[in-house]
Amino acid sequence: MCGIIGVVGNVNATQVLLKGLERLEYRGYDSAGIFVHDRHSGGQLIKEVGRIKRLEAKVPATLTGTLGIGHTRWATNGKPTIANAHPHVSADGRFYLVHNGVLQNVAALRDQYLADVTMASDTDTEVAVQLLARFVQEGATVTDALRHVMQLVDGSYAFALADRDDGDTLYVAKNKSPLLIGVGDGFNAVGSDALALLDRTHEFMEIHDQELGVLRAGSVQLMDINGQPVSRDTFIVDVSEGDGDLGTYPFHMLKEIDEQPVVMRRLLAAYTDENGTVNLSAELTQALAAADRLYFVAAGTSYHASLVGAALMEEYAHMPASAYLASEFGYHQPLLAGKPMFVFLTQSGETADIRQVLVKVKAQGFPTLTITNVPTSTLAREADYALNLHAGPEIAVASTKAYTAQVATTALVAKALGVAKHVQAAADWNLAHELGLIAATQQTLVDAKDTVHELAKSALATTRNAFYIGRGLDYYVALEAALKLKEISYVQAEGFAAGELKHGTIALIENGTPVIALISDPVTAAHTRANATEAAARGAHVLRIATRSLAEPGDDLVIDDLNPSLAPLALIVPCQLLAYYASLDRGYDVDRPRNLAKSVTVE
Ligand code: F6R
Repeated sequence: MCGIIGVVGNVNATQVLLKGLERLEYRGYDSAGIFVHDRHSGGQLIKEVGRIKRLEAKVPATLTGTLGIGHTRWATNGKPTIANAHPHVSADGRFYLVHNGVLQNVAALRDQYLADVTMASDTDTEVAVQLLARFVQEGATVTDALRHVMQLVDGSYAFALADRDDGDTLYVAKNKSPLLIGVGDGFNAVGSDALALLDRTHEFMEIHDQELGVLRAGSVQLMDINGQPVSRDTFIVDVSEGDGDLGTYPFHMLKEIDEQPVVMRRLLAAYTDENGTVNLSAELTQALAAADRLYFVAAGTSYHASLVGAALMEEYAHMPASAYLASEFGYHQPLLAGKPMFVFLTQSGETADIRQVLVKVKAQGFPTLTITNVPTSTLAREADYALNLHAGPEIAVASTKAYTAQVATTALVAKALGVAKHVQAAADWNLAHELGLIAATQQTLVDAKDTVHELAKSALATTRNAFYIGRGLDYYVALEAALKLKEISYVQAEGFAAGELKHGTIALIENGTPVIALISDPVTAAHTRANATEAAARGAHVLRIATRSLAEPGDDLVIDDLNPSLAPLALIVPCQLLAYYASLDRGYDVDRPRNLAKSVTVE
């Protein structure tokens, strides 16, 4: 979704904002804007439609200041136009506001308080800044006016507010949308995530829901929505796991696909010892063992990883487990087991659909674990337990290395839990050794780029639709493979349980329709092959990807043999590459697909 940034103090605000926006661009790239305060002119507002580079080109080199706010947008209310880009300014020209989130009751607020104000945009954000200016005009201090706005609006927000008449103070506020305060030497800043500010500071302070902050060069004052002061310690964010720079790669997605073997090894180093024992904290292991069912709750790619994770929990820890879509679970909670525990798989740790589930189940008193790539994220901080995916920053919108890190981490948790529960299957499982083999297999697959590129050219170059089929875990990979293809190449793709094809979908198969069969499960390999052959008989262009001992002459790609329970970790790699090349060959921006944002912070 959108990303916001703000800074005040002894810095060149323009530089901080533009660098921060570049790092936040993964959150939205419809349009962007900055306001930089300047003691002589009052300040400059610059906005542009499209990528941050276009905004940068518009910013004069002479624009410097010691206070500023910035925004990169993923449109929710109003089309991506300059008028709708942030910052939004009050009618009297005094207040500038950037906002990440969605305010639901703005129509009513406009009617009640702002009937005489002509709006310059179609956004909910503008209503908030006009409202704030109205309260200040009526005599409120800026802080009280901001609190009043917070009390009136329904919905989610991370706000950063600048006052043209006060170049020393930056106001921030939060409810449900992510926001972190960066504490610097002679300056203070705010950003939607730590990454935006990590080149300036490693010291951060949380701001919680329904709190606001008053930031000056040398102080951060936090208070709750009623104006009561809040005190909070700072914490240090470590960035030892890569900085997300592109290096020599054309796209982040390709770099992140290539990083997967390294991520496997990093997870082994983080969670296992030299004997292959998985080390989780005793408290977390006890909490998991005390549950009688695990509920994985996630979205998109992370949901697909959860399906695999739940299967691993049942196989190796004999723990009943199931995966749910967060956007459904929160509003249609199934009948729960007696002692449920919730596991949130989330790359960003900020997904709003998941957070609303976390808030609800915590209120019900159930234990929670977040497994995320961003240890400083909201979901990591708010769950009872958190595990780090150690994948390093994932910048491409299409998730790749976070998916494999999620599957591997759930395997590690399943092993630890199974051992704690004295399950023989877990005791016999040499997972550390197998993950090492997986890393090697992934390496051979990322090295086979030319082969996969040829397959993409032969089957996917011009197609408008495609099907991925598999059974068991291969089916879960098929779901993820199809999502990868559709989100970056805009090909209508579906993942199917292979046996289901003949129950309706086979009607869609025409001459040349790509059907990609995933075959790594010895129990069902023959059936999946038969289903692929049925599709071929109707003219489908079938690609077969199989593990070595299940491979047959004519298969298109053969993968080293591995434990079928971990097959998704390898099988997904050529599927990621197929999607990458289908997008690249169509000339699309692989890292920034249309209509999508990396971190989905609205429900
Ligand atoms: C697809 C993708 C999304 C995310 C989903 C959940 O490539 O990345 O489907 O998986 O939006 O995001 P997280 O994992 O951050 O909760």
